Amino acid sequence: MLFPFSKNINMKSLLTIEELTPKILSDLVNSGADFKMIRESHDKPLQGQTWGMIFNKASTRTRLSFEVGIHELGGKALFLSANDLQLGRGEPIKDTARVMGRMLHGLIIRTFDQQDLIDFAEWGKIPVVNALTDDEHPCQILADLLTIQELHGTWEGKKIAFIGDGYSNMSISWMWAAKHLGFEFSIAAPKQCQPTPEFLERLNAPNVTITTSPKEAAANADVVNTDVWLSMGQEGQEAKEAQFKGFQVNENLLKVANKDHLVLHCLPAYRGKEITEEVLEAHADTIFQQAENRLHAQKAVLAWLRV
Ligand code: CP
Ligand code: NVA
Repeated sequence: MLFPFSKNINMKSLLTIEELTPKILSDLVNSGADFKMIRESHDKPLQGQTWGMIFNKASTRTRLSFEVGIHELGGKALFLSANDLQLGRGEPIKDTARVMGRMLHGLIIRTFDQQDLIDFAEWGKIPVVNALTDDEHPCQILADLLTIQELHGTWEGKKIAFIGDGYSNMSISWMWAAKHLGFEFSIAAPKQCQPTPEFLERLNAPNVTITTSPKEAAANADVVNTDVWLSMGQEGQEAKEAQFKGFQVNENLLKVANKDHLVLHCLPAYRGKEITEEVLEAHADTIFQQAENRLHAQKAVLAWLRV
């Protein structure tokens, strides 16, 4: 397994979608589907293991799905609020990680800086899972792909639109997924919230397109996807919301999508901002299936990473 950011780590981690191969990405989605089918009766690959969960940002779905998933896989989840750890008082990651690596079997981390995950993996020498950073949200993408596979049969040949912040953790993880899997991915975002030319050059994916026109992105889309306009950590930047005027997923926008389009939202949703109440409720079955799929997809990740 190749993890270019993590060359010195002699075990697997899930730090980004970028670092996955197309095969591992689709294998993880398929494995999530298998775990879903046999929820009550699957093996317990984490039997006897304890996984730490360090959360430096709020969470409902990610925390819940990892705690339940680890439990259902036979392991114990230890929730560690970053504020309660000595980390919050200045203990360096390299010391915290070396202690944790001697006691835990793996770590789930939600934080700001991607580099912190890399440091935890390098110093802890145990698998690390990215539960959301400012750069990527890989576990959410696995659940979203599983939902698309369940409801559309495949992502192959589909057009997936993303309306909103085009250079956030969600849109970045989606762009890497599109690069690996080859589906058409069209982002509509205000100019100031688009991926940088340097990023697009590194991505090098002609199937990813960027526009300032939500209608252009959503035209003939099989999936219309959105996320909050202000991500966690951007509190105090409410003025930025004005840039998103016209970037709402509403009934009018969806008229240009394919007839059997899906609407996805990773949640939490802010009705009246990135999505209307009507659209969210009309597509609630899909959106909450998507939320449930976090559990199944993450079981696949944990079983894959288990040492
Ligand atoms: N979608 C998602 O990651 O939700 P939480 O922030 O509630 O974990
Ligand atoms: N982009 C959002 C995703 C929340 C699950 C955030 O980082 O807050």
